[in-house]
Amino acid sequence: MQIVTNIADLKRLRTSLRGTVGLVPTMGALHEGHLSLVRRARSECDHVGVTIFVNPAQFGANEDLSRYPCDLERDLRLLEPLRVDIVWAPNPETVYPSGFQTWVSVEEVSKGLEGGQRPGHFRGVATVVAKLFNVFEPDRAYFGQKDAQQVAVIKRMVEDLNFPVEIVVCPTVRAADGLALSTRNSYLSAEERRAATVLFRSLTAARKAYEHGERSAGALLAVMKTVLETEPVARVNYLAASDPRTLADLDFVDDGILLSLAVRIGNARLIDNLLLPEDDYVARD
Ligand code: PAJ
Repeated sequence: MQIVTNIADLKRLRTSLRGTVGLVPTMGALHEGHLSLVRRARSECDHVGVTIFVNPAQFGANEDLSRYPCDLERDLRLLEPLRVDIVWAPNPETVYPSGFQTWVSVEEVSKGLEGGQRPGHFRGVATVVAKLFNVFEPDRAYFGQKDAQQVAVIKRMVEDLNFPVEIVVCPTVRAADGLALSTRNSYLSAEERRAATVLFRSLTAARKAYEHGERSAGALLAVMKTVLETEPVARVNYLAASDPRTLADLDFVDDGILLSLAVRIGNARLIDNLLLPEDDYVARD
């Protein structure tokens, strides 16, 4: 496993690789969700690259950039047994040198849901991912369904800007009680951690209603709301029923529907989603 920080070294290593290259972009603080993407890349590609970069451009002024957990040694220990070829862990000045002023903005898909609550977030995500694609030149890049809007934004960008890369979406990895694994779960107290299962419980209730034939988006959202209201510490940020590709609001489930939500619990802002009809359930703790 080669660990590099600057772009010239990365390009040199990249040029030496023969065969397919899979890229897993991350912000570090790795957990089983990230590692599932690495394993998938390992099983499908000749070489695997992982990037570890807490991207300042995707954090708002009042967000958690300064307290976002960071432990490169630990991350490298977790990646070593997975036979990763290259880890790129650049400094912010390498990615955004002085004078930097070119941004990628994926307009419509970035607007609602997370983009509505976090102005500029997806501009930061799309820009850094475009840069990662340009320097790494991966054949495939792996993203988690956990961040469904991020997937929609990246897919749109790849299509619009003709990036020669295949986007592979991997299922959300959950703790045994259903909570989607997330770096931000570490902000929760023990009591809040128990309450946080309400996100998955609300999605499960909506799935059950769907399985009993409910096809009205409003009715599915009402089911989610009822469950969320049972948890007094959970403050709902948004609930949405959207087209999984465009993220436009849907009234009825026809082809597929993305149910998503953002909830504040204590100091953490948590997101989760469910894709109907089909969604893989992966539990691991
Ligand atoms: P980060 O939050 O570190 O996540 C890196 C990747 O891991 C993303 O594709 C995310 O969707 C995936 N992931 C996180 N939790 C997961 C889970 N429980 N199950 C499956 N996949 C999971 O997302 C980002 O970083 C950044 O926005 C990035 C794409 C790296 C750009 O800066």
